[in-house]
Amino acid sequence: MITENNGRFLIETDHTSYLFYVDPAGFLTHLYYGEKLFLTEDGIDAMIPVISNQNGCSIIADQKESTVSLDDWCQEASSRGRGDLGQPMIELVYADGSRSSDFRFESFRIERIKEQPDGLPGAYKEEEQEGSSLVIVLRDQKSRTVLELVYSVFEECDCITRFARVRNEGEEPVRILRLMSTQLDVRTDGQQKILSFSGEWAREMEPVETILSASRFTVESGGGTSSNKANPFIIFGETELSETYGQCYGFNLLYSGNHQETLEIGGHGRARFLSGIHPEFLEITLQPLESFCSPEAVQTFSDGGYQQISLHMHAFVREHIVRGYWKKKERPILINSWEAMYFDVREKKVLKLAKEAAKAGIELFVLDDGWFGKRNSDKEALGDWKDNTEKLPGGLAGLSERIHAMGMKFGIWVEPEMVSENSELYRAHPDYAVTVPGTEPARGRNQLLLDLTREEVQEYLIREMTGVFTRSRADYVKWDMNRNFSDYYSQALPAEEQGIFAHRYVLGLYRVIRELTERFPKILFEGCASGGNRFDLGMLCYMPQIWASDCTDALQRARIQNGYSYGYPQSVLGAHVSASPNHQTLRRIPLESRFAIACAGVLGYECNLSDLSAGELAEIREEVKLYKEWREVLQFGQFYRLKGHAAKGRFDTEAVRWNIVSPDGTRAVGITFQNQVLPNYSHRYLKTRGLLEDRIYHVYNRSLKYDIRRMGDLINTVSPIPVKQDSLLHGALSHLVQLDGEKEDHIVTGSILNKAGIPLASGYQGTGFEGNTAFYQDYDARIFLIEEAAPAEGTGIREAVSRSGGK
Ligand code: DGJ
Repeated sequence: MITENNGRFLIETDHTSYLFYVDPAGFLTHLYYGEKLFLTEDGIDAMIPVISNQNGCSIIADQKESTVSLDDWCQEASSRGRGDLGQPMIELVYADGSRSSDFRFESFRIERIKEQPDGLPGAYKEEEQEGSSLVIVLRDQKSRTVLELVYSVFEECDCITRFARVRNEGEEPVRILRLMSTQLDVRTDGQQKILSFSGEWAREMEPVETILSASRFTVESGGGTSSNKANPFIIFGETELSETYGQCYGFNLLYSGNHQETLEIGGHGRARFLSGIHPEFLEITLQPLESFCSPEAVQTFSDGGYQQISLHMHAFVREHIVRGYWKKKERPILINSWEAMYFDVREKKVLKLAKEAAKAGIELFVLDDGWFGKRNSDKEALGDWKDNTEKLPGGLAGLSERIHAMGMKFGIWVEPEMVSENSELYRAHPDYAVTVPGTEPARGRNQLLLDLTREEVQEYLIREMTGVFTRSRADYVKWDMNRNFSDYYSQALPAEEQGIFAHRYVLGLYRVIRELTERFPKILFEGCASGGNRFDLGMLCYMPQIWASDCTDALQRARIQNGYSYGYPQSVLGAHVSASPNHQTLRRIPLESRFAIACAGVLGYECNLSDLSAGELAEIREEVKLYKEWREVLQFGQFYRLKGHAAKGRFDTEAVRWNIVSPDGTRAVGITFQNQVLPNYSHRYLKTRGLLEDRIYHVYNRSLKYDIRRMGDLINTVSPIPVKQDSLLHGALSHLVQLDGEKEDHIVTGSILNKAGIPLASGYQGTGFEGNTAFYQDYDARIFLIEEAAPAEGTGIREAVSRSGGK
């Protein structure tokens, strides 16, 4: 809800209040953002700071009206020129060359934003309510330039979004050097903890905690995309912050290009957070009556550490970012051809793989790279979106028909934003590529970027992709993008507009994907940029899921998905089971564990099923069955990290411990992944979060068997005949005898599971398999299924609890 009274503005979500006011000089002053307040007029008066002593060298913003030094003032939108020496939210150069701005309050309106301006993506409401946005109008006193600050409220997920728009209402041109999307100034005791997410290819979303005491902390991307180096999602707050403790703020940006987030602590303890388009990649001149709009940013507050930020952000992404046909639909289980055949796509192989997948119950076949033009390696053919009929004699249409006839959906891979120099497209239109004439272009994965700032290139892509999606009768599209920007240049822009190239590219991309997703509303689009090089809320406004990382190694994936989980829900994360040894790390990880990690996202398989043993295929059939039964919980449930990103103690040997609870609290899945086993430490336990405390649950695990070869030559401690490790005999015995997995079967209250936890079967520790021993070694994982159970007839909760306790 948004209310205004006498120049005081209050934005309230279900559990938070955001308060600012117009001070006597017209500066927009931030008062509070945090836990919901019970407010009165007098109360707000009491919250307004009074600073009457000007300190040493400080600048007084307006001598007539107030004694305020903006350098020590919490503001809603800072600029240079009136004494605020912190980083500005907006920086302009006026016609006379001056960079001093003086934005003061002029008016406000409460309205409904129907569509995000400038073709940018915007947060979305199922039923747009009137009055869900507040527009504050500020005006520069000299140039008459208008700065509009737009706030929208998303009550139920405790989120507020912001963006800013500049309009030149003067008579001279105005140059924008920066226009950030959001600013939050808060009073601190001089220190803040920041949780940011850095990374690289195959190492996306590594959580990094930093304590900032003074000066500035920056997260930024400069490679043209939102980047795997620095995701725009960030949290900051009090220094004691942990998974479940502490007051903090979480932010994200609905933008897919170069961005920057900064947190700065000034000499008086004011912490200023800014987020928006990276100012180094934004330079645009506004002629009279022209305007420019920043992307939208979202923010939330938690008084319960990182976990609450995650829950709010997940709800926001599920409800207000992902939209359209797939918004609430369960996503199909897919098989992707990439790691099974790379570029060596052949119809026969493809059909064989599809047949195995169909037998396993997999629902969607995705033909990855290698199907088009003369594409046999990453050196050629990008841009030539014609079927390669040597590889696929029936073309895409024929293949798709045969896959559909197997009862599966058909999906196709494309990388539309790129061109190979060895391609028909490049030979016909070299100017479509992003190059600086007269210089040798820098290549990435042997390819060049197409100039999406140009309308004819956008049209070309829309036409070509419409052709591909139509003739393949695609149910799914993987939209890939595999290089960073290097030459920031368009041959179609005049020299003075080159400074806006990167942003125009992003707008061109949004136009193309908006048109295509509107033209094909039922296609399930999955974004991808060498995995997670463009994993952001901008892309998610068009594509309901994103391939989280090219790294499919379950241990590394566990870390990556754990990182994503701070800001993004499982329903948007593509996660696949791949071969062992893994193609990126050569690590061997049991199939069960690979599944356990992949099932905490949108499940797929990406390996050559035709080469797997009958036992492995049977295992996969079971996994697929299980995933279908629990898919709603796994994809749309509330996600809890039972441990944060860092090891907690000497006995903390697990890479991740997650549990996911259905929205109604009646079903849940727990997942653990053992990193490195600790000898002589066999205690295992299951603890949860988010279960309904007063309900009774049945907790059980899957009945699994383990290959005796994993015990190596210890087989000789029980075998009547000597068995040479890894011999043919060892192999033959492994088919006859298997190790029984432990059995877990408990009836227990939600309160016990959430608060006390329950002990599980002891882990193997080198002294044999006695009773119910768990074979829980390096890289083993467990999945626990939790379902609400009716209390046994005639017994109350107490009896049920004591019964299960006596077991
Ligand atoms: C990079 C993607 O991330 C991979 O999954 C795969 O699609 C390749 N590109 C294909 O070239």
